[in-house]
Amino acid sequence: MAAMENHIQKILFTEEQISQRVSELASQITLNFSSSTNNGGAPLLSSSSAPVVVGVATGAFLFLADLVRKINLPISVDFVRVESYGSGTVSSGKPKISCDLKIDVTGKHVILVEDIVDTGNTLACLFEHLISKGASSISVCTLFDKPSKRKVNVELVGEGKFYRGFECPDYFVVGYGLDFAEVYRNLPYVGILKPEMYS
Ligand code: PRP
Ligand code: MN
Ligand code: MG
Repeated sequence: MAAMENHIQKILFTEEQISQRVSELASQITLNFSSSTNNGGAPLLSSSSAPVVVGVATGAFLFLADLVRKINLPISVDFVRVESYGSGTVSSGKPKISCDLKIDVTGKHVILVEDIVDTGNTLACLFEHLISKGASSISVCTLFDKPSKRKVNVELVGEGKFYRGFECPDYFVVGYGLDFAEVYRNLPYVGILKPEMYS
């Protein structure tokens, strides 16, 4: 098999661009969760009121790992897994949670971390779930956003914020967690696959 970069037609977001943006998002999160609890001094957030950062497996794993190392708060980390696809290849539009949180988020601020938001179905499902579990606020931090594909409005939830790294053009992109048929997640950048790789 040829080296992976030979499968890529065009790089859209380089490793450096991603790293820079991840740092900015982490700073925003740190600031937002610090400023509500003190008067501009050093963060006073206790570990009991610090957010629970929840990665949506599998796609968010790299972004989550890089993001949390740059958040300067005593956060907790957990994962959920959501599946939109049954045995078929077409999204049901009704995602199901196939692996739930380990941490009890009752009364906690939750930050959902996604690699990409497309239709919004995955997030909508998770909002409902987290609300039913009694989370006190739900924010979203997604590296990529494809508003052109949106079917449900996921920006108007509770008291949470919507952090977005980049708007993604309407291509099928892979890398940095994003897959095609479970492959290419380990590319350190994000790009467009060559058409011949789909067959
Ligand atoms: C992808 C992506 C998001 C979701 C976004 O996950 O990682 O979780 O789709 O799509 P939506 O806004 O239309 O719901 P996928 O279901 O491919 O699973 P994966 O993370 O394991 O690749
Ligand atoms: Mn996903
Ligand atoms: Mg996928």
